[in-house]
Amino acid sequence: MTDVEIKKGLAGVTVDYTAVSKVNPETNSLLYRGYPVQELAATQPFEAVAYLLWNGELPTDEQLASLRAEERKHRALADNVKAAIDLLPLEAHPMDEVRTAVSVIGASDSSGSGSVLDAAGSPEENLARSIRLYASLPAIVAYGQRRRRGQEIVPPRDDLDYAANFLWMTFGEEAEPVVVDAFNRSMTLYAEHSFNASTFTARVITSTLSDLYSAVVGAIGALKGPLHGGANEAVLHIFNEIGSAENVVPWLDKALAEKRKIMGFGHRVYKRGDSRVPTMKTALDTLIEHYDRPDVAALYDALESEFVSRKGIYPNLDYPSGPAYNLIGFDTLTFTPLFIASRVTGWTAHIMEQTASNALIRPLSAYNGPDERHIDGYVPDA
Ligand code: ACO
Repeated sequence: MTDVEIKKGLAGVTVDYTAVSKVNPETNSLLYRGYPVQELAATQPFEAVAYLLWNGELPTDEQLASLRAEERKHRALADNVKAAIDLLPLEAHPMDEVRTAVSVIGASDSSGSGSVLDAAGSPEENLARSIRLYASLPAIVAYGQRRRRGQEIVPPRDDLDYAANFLWMTFGEEAEPVVVDAFNRSMTLYAEHSFNASTFTARVITSTLSDLYSAVVGAIGALKGPLHGGANEAVLHIFNEIGSAENVVPWLDKALAEKRKIMGFGHRVYKRGDSRVPTMKTALDTLIEHYDRPDVAALYDALESEFVSRKGIYPNLDYPSGPAYNLIGFDTLTFTPLFIASRVTGWTAHIMEQTASNALIRPLSAYNGPDERHIDGYVPDA
């Protein structure tokens, strides 16, 4: 054993600069390229937020129209992606389905020379690849849910913008504006969050000069875990277990006695509340009113107040987004894929930033295994 200081989980370690977003736990704020995320969620379509993350500035009307036109070109589910999804068992987790679909898109992308020496791609190639993935993911997520429900695929509609078309392809009917607005806000809130586990995974892969698709596939793997993106799905499981507000106290007594983690609460960086929660909670409240589900509000409030008063640990974004996606009609298994559809914008912004100023990410470890030992009878070559 050595006496080096180990930073388990890299907690508190600053590994690089980023201009993509700034998380400030002291002021409970999150800025994308300088703009508070609450302001972006309230005023911008998700397409403009994607543009901002990639380009550093909000788009002009013309730039937004151009991105929207490009997004429409890649909206339909490609035949080979659909064929690959159809090969998977219906029981496959949708995160695995989306991960596979992204791999197929990457393997089918003929831009670049095809040599590993050029895998990292030029800035132009990587921006085009980022737009392609962001535009393709809604159809993949929507088709996944429909396939599991035994429903036919719904082709995209060119007259609808990103969020409305996403809901159209999932449900086959036009969503009410209040639902589109809540969904659009959730997409903005999930889009970016500095060096979280999945983004850091994407940056590690990119640092080897691998390609953007490989980095996104790796990031999806990191996002799947319940300590990260998988928590929005886990929140709904908890809500279903509890059932209704009056069961919160006995349920929590038992869960805490069993030392269970309560999904949707706690954060590595924010210790006094997640900056994104108030905006998402407002969106959830509009959905609760729209769908007339006061029971959801009662359960949400009861669990939050009981857990916060007992543990002093606050909700994270997954706590309001889980019930919001459930009210909209998404299956619980689809929640974390929705996170991918949004976060792919942040991941790819980081991939491009890492590529522009790369250093191989390769930390050290302190060895604590057996002392040097030898194979009996081994005689080294002369
Ligand atoms: N439920 C119960 N106890 C908790 C929770 C929770 N949700 N979160 C933290 N704690 C407790 C831990 O048990 C630990 O207690 P101890 O010191 O008595 O052992 C203490 O608080 C510190 O927790 P850590 O897990 O060590 O803190 P860390 O900063 O590593 O954890 C994390 C952050 C992983 C998010 C944690 O809070 C957690 O597991 N939360 C539940 C999963 C979740 O909601 N993840 C979503 C993250 S946000 C996102 O991806 C959008």
